[in-house]
Amino acid sequence: MPYADVIPQVPSSLEVAVYDGESPPPEGLDEVDFYVLPYTFAPEPLRLLERMPALRVVQSLTAGYEHILPYLRPGVRLCNAGRLHDTSTAELALTLMLASLRGVPDFVRGQDAAQWRYARYPSLANRTVLIVGYGGIGSAIERRLAGFEVEVLRVARRARDGVSTMDELPDLLPLADVVVLCVPLTNETTGLVDKEFLSRMRDGALLVNVARGKVVDTQALLAELHSGRLRAALDVTDPEPPPADHPLWRAPGLLLSPHVGGNSTAFLPRAKRLIVEQLTRYATGEPLAYEVTR
Ligand SMILES: NC(=O)c1ccc[n+]([C@@H]2O[C@H](COP(=O)([O-])OP(=O)(O)OC[C@H]3O[C@@H](n4cnc5c(N)ncnc54)[C@H](OP(=O)(O)O)[C@@H]3O)[C@@H](O)[C@H]2O)c1
Repeated sequence: MPYADVIPQVPSSLEVAVYDGESPPPEGLDEVDFYVLPYTFAPEPLRLLERMPALRVVQSLTAGYEHILPYLRPGVRLCNAGRLHDTSTAELALTLMLASLRGVPDFVRGQDAAQWRYARYPSLANRTVLIVGYGGIGSAIERRLAGFEVEVLRVARRARDGVSTMDELPDLLPLADVVVLCVPLTNETTGLVDKEFLSRMRDGALLVNVARGKVVDTQALLAELHSGRLRAALDVTDPEPPPADHPLWRAPGLLLSPHVGGNSTAFLPRAKRLIVEQLTRYATGEPLAYEVTR
């Protein structure tokens, strides 16, 4: 049981039961006041909320929480994963950028066919990378880009030193060779990357999405990919996962990963640390970290 070693680290004033999201839930759901959701986007663990009348806090192990909101009763507090996924997701963003630019998908296909596909691909060096959503993950991406000899542009909701706002995005998009998305999925960001957004990207530019699938208009992206004007690397898609006959699977210039940004060996130690810290705060009456204001 991956979380068993967490129990001895939690203040003894709390009674802890472990639910992995797959086996049947433990007895006594009606007494639960603090619920750490299992790390999954499946609806079953969320449906348990209605069987927890004493619930006061939901702790998510995901950074995005748009999928939780419909299940949350008024008065129940929600904390998200905070900085838990920055390391792993930023690492994947770099992986997707480098793999896509340097031709790794073609090399793997060549290897499968015993073909030596010698060719010159774009480097990441000397490129301009535009980070759309300069929060925890966005800034972790920039830290990892240090050393790759790139220029970095940043966009967030609120302007600050070196960070532009969304109004400036139309002028920044034509400057970027790589656009990486790490905004939360909200009403404002749903469909943010539409035909107009994509049309402002440079010829040959790469779009990387480690945010949420619905931030991108899939049909508009498919049109650009089929024209050969843009490339993309998506960890998240709309629909997710794409059904077997969906055009995303066969789109030219597209590298797909199966929503694994946060799901690496970096997850469990950080998740355990977060759970122990939050339960300790809860038990001692300290303010909880990463509380989401709705
Ligand atoms: N692929 C994966 O496995 C994976 C893993 C973890 C997270 N994610 C996704 O990544 C998202 C970002 O995570 P995070 O932890 O970096 O979040 P975060 O720390 O809250 O940062 C979000 C950034 O987006 C900006 N932003 C918010 N709304 C915006 C809007 N309407 N327009 C423009 N910018 C906006 C924020 O601006 P301000 O700084 O001005 O507030 C902030 O810079 C999550 O919500 C989740 O959906 C995916």
